[in-house]
Amino acid sequence: MIIFKHRGKLEDFVLKKRNKNNSIGFVPTMGALHEGHLSLIRESKKNSKITVASIFVNPTQFNNKEDLNKYPRTISKDILLLEAAGCDILFFPNEEEIYPNEESKEKLYHLGNIESTLEGKFRPGHFQGVCLVVEMLLNIVNPDFLFLGQKDFQQCLVIKKLISLLHLKTKIVICPIFRESNGLAMSSRNSRLNSSDREKASELYRSLNFIKKNLSVDNFLILKKMVLSRLQEEGFKVEYLEIAKRKNLKIVTNPKSGEELILLIAAFLSNVRLIDNLLINP
Ligand code: PAJ
Repeated sequence: MIIFKHRGKLEDFVLKKRNKNNSIGFVPTMGALHEGHLSLIRESKKNSKITVASIFVNPTQFNNKEDLNKYPRTISKDILLLEAAGCDILFFPNEEEIYPNEESKEKLYHLGNIESTLEGKFRPGHFQGVCLVVEMLLNIVNPDFLFLGQKDFQQCLVIKKLISLLHLKTKIVICPIFRESNGLAMSSRNSRLNSSDREKASELYRSLNFIKKNLSVDNFLILKKMVLSRLQEEGFKVEYLEIAKRKNLKIVTNPKSGEELILLIAAFLSNVRLIDNLLINP
């Protein structure tokens, strides 16, 4: 694996590969890699000739300074994992490389409703920061395929919108959520949970499955109330638990059969913010 710290050198290298008709797959990350990230690398390797990963803890997408400071950083281990997974190129820039000056952080994206609902409501400015860094990375790598995790479903829709605003040809491939054996969705933030909380955190996935299994046209609000009170008893602080339309994340309370929907949850456990989701077709 070749590691690039400077954008110019990476751009030249990727351009040479592209000119030889190699397809480029790209997996952007913030590091502290786990099997979920590596599943994206594997998917990219299946679909493209050259796989590029990036590791950059993007300050503009953190609306909470403490979360940014506590974000795990494990670069030596990450490099070994990427190499073992067969990643071809790693882009590991420092902050000046991505944001050379204050103006580079000032662009505003018109994302519509998708920006202000669910995650956007609880993390104001978050998706603007995601768009800033992803636009920058896409300009540098110019990939044919961009591999993203369903774990951050709203982020997938935001990036889809970004790609259409920028008129790029990059195709998004959404990969399934990789889970621990107890069902907990893998996340870099899980490393901040102690072992008993890590076990408890799997309750989120069980709650989503409980709702999916028992959902009918008019009982979501009852099921939601049951789940919320159980999670509260267990020590979770739930930010949202909603059903939304998969295509635009408009919230629905009385799902109709045949609709493509998604059930989404965000909750704190011991000050660690966890998110999860489950596709449903009632
Ligand atoms: P990060 O949280 O590191 O995630 C990088 C990619 O891995 C995202 O597409 C995310 O959805 C995916 N991912 C995370 N956990 C996963 C899991 N358990 N199973 C499958 N895929 C999973 O998302 C970001 O970084 C940043 O916002 C980024 C897009 C890099 C922009 O800074």
